Amino acid sequence: MRVFVTGASGFVGSAVVSQLLGAGHEVVGLARSDTSADRLAAMGAGVVEGSLADLDVVQRAAAASDGVAHLAFRHGEPATLAADTDLQVVEALGDALAGSGRPLVVTSGTLVLSPGRVGRETDKAVPDAPAALRAPSEKAALALAGRGVRVAVVRLAPMVHDAARRGFAGALVEIAERTRMSGYAGNGSQRWPAVHRQDAALLYRLALEQAPAGSVLHGVGEEGISLRALAARIGGLCDVPVGAVPIVQAEAHFGWLAGLVATDAPASSAITRRLLGWEPSHRELIDDLAHFVEKAS
Ligand SMILES: NC(=O)c1ccc[n+]([C@@H]2O[C@H](COP(=O)([O-])OP(=O)(O)OC[C@H]3O[C@@H](n4cnc5c(N)ncnc54)[C@H](OP(=O)(O)O)[C@@H]3O)[C@@H](O)[C@H]2O)c1
Repeated sequence: MRVFVTGASGFVGSAVVSQLLGAGHEVVGLARSDTSADRLAAMGAGVVEGSLADLDVVQRAAAASDGVAHLAFRHGEPATLAADTDLQVVEALGDALAGSGRPLVVTSGTLVLSPGRVGRETDKAVPDAPAALRAPSEKAALALAGRGVRVAVVRLAPMVHDAARRGFAGALVEIAERTRMSGYAGNGSQRWPAVHRQDAALLYRLALEQAPAGSVLHGVGEEGISLRALAARIGGLCDVPVGAVPIVQAEAHFGWLAGLVATDAPASSAITRRLLGWEPSHRELIDDLAHFVEKAS
């Protein structure tokens, strides 16, 4: 299969590219800079030059492919802008693939679901969820099943990890180092799911190869790690005390993560595993954390 991948130079996307190439697929990735293009070429992927704003470029590349994996996201830019762009790209990809029966895998996150209970693939994105801004993209993507696209949505766990300091878990390590305390909000019973980057990459490949139209898949290796357990591990690794941060002081201690550390958002991947025979097999987050700290020192 010739697969067009957006976000191919990113943390998760680059693992997807390697996974696809390793399985004998051809990959063409969207690159918005020479650095990203060089990165793709070094992996053995083809390059389409352009950004997410170049919808015509994105559409042409999709039309010339046998399938698309969409992982690019404008991180670091205003959240509403990033979400609007994402929706436009999903719609453009859908127009390019409509009636073809070809696969389109769109990225979302388990944080689109209602907190406080174990989120399942059959649950809908809700407007008051932490990542509610991504709900319109999910909805637009799933509607493409009715337009002859073999679309699947992958909701990734909020903590995609590998032996590099990244994402929410990486941010918790940084906060512990900076404040000299590894904190958890309230009683720390809040749970966040996690998935190893390589397991997530395998899920994208299986989705491209096999997922029926309209599938919602959960990229979740660990259903819910308690934030107190995470804080204890980080405290041990960074050699700083571990302690509770009252919810009213969460903003001062956790900064931009304050809203999330108070959120209990476990998610299951039982349906995904059954549907695709996907079985996460890589290191758990707790074991990767040691690499974060070693890499930084
Ligand atoms: N990592 C996680 O823990 C996690 C958890 C849940 C969901 N997700 C979602 O999974 C997807 C991939 O995440 P990631 O961690 O791999 O993100 P990342 O490392 O930040 O990579 C983002 C990718 O998007 C590309 N990109 C950003 N803005 C672009 C633009 N305007 N035009 C073209 N390309 C653009 C980047 O290109 P450059 O390389 O040129 O910057 C990069 O390839 C995202 O949708 C993310 O929100 C990630």
